Amino acid sequence: MRVTVIGAGYVGLVSGVCFADFGHRVICVDKDAGRIEALRRGEIPIFEPGLADLVAANISQGRLEFSNEPTGIGEADAVFIAVGTPSRRGDGHADLTHIYDVVREIAPLLSPTAIVVTKSTVPVGTGDEIERLLRELRPDAEIQVVSNPEFLREGAAIQDFKHPDRIVVGTDDARARAVVAEVYRPLYLNAAPILNVSRRTAELVKYASNAFLATKIAFINEVADLCESVGADVQDVARGMGLDNRIGGKFLHAGPGFGGSCLPKDTTALIKTAHDHGAQLRIVETVAAVNDQRKRAMARKVVAALDGPIRGKTIAVLGLTFKPNTDDTRDSPALPLITALHDLGAVVRSYDPAGMEQAKPHAPDVVCCASAYAAAEGADAVVIATEWEQFRALDLERLRRIMARPVIVDLRNVYRGDEMKRANFRYVAVGRPDAECRPVPSLAKRSAGRLGGAE
Ligand code: UDX
Ligand code: UDX
Repeated sequence: MRVTVIGAGYVGLVSGVCFADFGHRVICVDKDAGRIEALRRGEIPIFEPGLADLVAANISQGRLEFSNEPTGIGEADAVFIAVGTPSRRGDGHADLTHIYDVVREIAPLLSPTAIVVTKSTVPVGTGDEIERLLRELRPDAEIQVVSNPEFLREGAAIQDFKHPDRIVVGTDDARARAVVAEVYRPLYLNAAPILNVSRRTAELVKYASNAFLATKIAFINEVADLCESVGADVQDVARGMGLDNRIGGKFLHAGPGFGGSCLPKDTTALIKTAHDHGAQLRIVETVAAVNDQRKRAMARKVVAALDGPIRGKTIAVLGLTFKPNTDDTRDSPALPLITALHDLGAVVRSYDPAGMEQAKPHAPDVVCCASAYAAAEGADAVVIATEWEQFRALDLERLRRIMARPVIVDLRNVYRGDEMKRANFRYVAVGRPDAECRPVPSLAKRSAGRLGGAE
């Protein structure tokens, strides 16, 4: 088949290269000429494991092309739209400017029986509006508009795309349904279920899924707070809950709040859509509000771990991306944490394996360091904000030697209290009773003595 994908961002690029890897002829179009030039040179503008090799393989086998112009639209069996739908400033609705720009741009180029598929996350009814616009611009044609939301996670995008839990196809048109099913036929081998529903239903499946994932995370985060008050262990609570397959153990990791380019913006956009239709999603509204508060509240854990004001203290924040295995810092919990630490007068040093360039515009005052240990040098506390693999087995002895105070605030629960106690660290985690490990007195006195002069 001939497939054109418009928008070579996370979703467009991964979808395009996987379609090519299925054996289809794919053209990925993006208005950003620099991005297209880079991709043609095999340079991948996003950090995504395995993507560079897959792009190179499919370019070399002639199945994948990149273009800055809307090429191949007329010949395409299906045209997928994967441009950004960021939050609209001011009200949090999904900003659909790019979507409608693309529709107007491709309308004159589409074949009369084209299939246009939205892969971007678009609010309920967007497909109807695209169809209305295409009828207006191409009264001569029978163009079908299908919703086919994407559920891939950054950092595991190729795996998720090729092994989806479901493929949602939103259209009432049999021909369009058959064309999209043909595009995904290679996935039948992985027994990926195709869910054929109406277009509006498909659009809502995406938002409801993201909002529910966000609700699970916000729920376990609040349970973590309760665990800290009653002396229970949130990880065991989550395990106990998750063994009930009606609940499921995934997305029950307590932490500093959910971030990224999707969950925050999609929960907000869903709330707006509900308002527009006279419905109210009070649970989702609370999830969004609780999550925003939580990100800033994490700074309080640092103040507690250092027994009081942190003005003039040096805090090392490990991890700036919203989760590991991505360079994406969009709505990362680390950023409001850093802002809150700065507001409390602390000096913040930081290290992230992939996202420092992306974070700089959002955290200009952070001292970016070359490694976790460089960031921890002379720090009064280390905060683990993103659970990158390399932060999970830090050399604790070395850290104790280079830090001003042996204090670790673990917002991702990657360590255990007992190992921290053995290593003589003061350790504060999330929702766990052994969070308050204190170094043995002699060491405490020594470190207090060392700080005595400073305070
Ligand atoms: C997108 C949507 O924003 C999101 O709602 C959905 O959940 C996933 O797909 P993402 O792939 O992360 O997210 O978007 P982004 O990384 O911003 O990439 C969008 C690409 O579209 C950019 O490369 C941009 O240059 C391109 N684009 C945008 C066009 O090619 N033409 C346009 O008119 C607008
Ligand atoms: C999400 C959805 O998972 C995906 O299906 C959709 O297509 C796009 O949005 P992504 O944004 O890549 O994917 O991130 P995800 O892995 O969902 O994590 C989102 C945030 O929640 C991250 O900040 C992560 O650290 C946090 N999280 C996730 C938790 O705090 N606890 C968990 O148990 C899971």
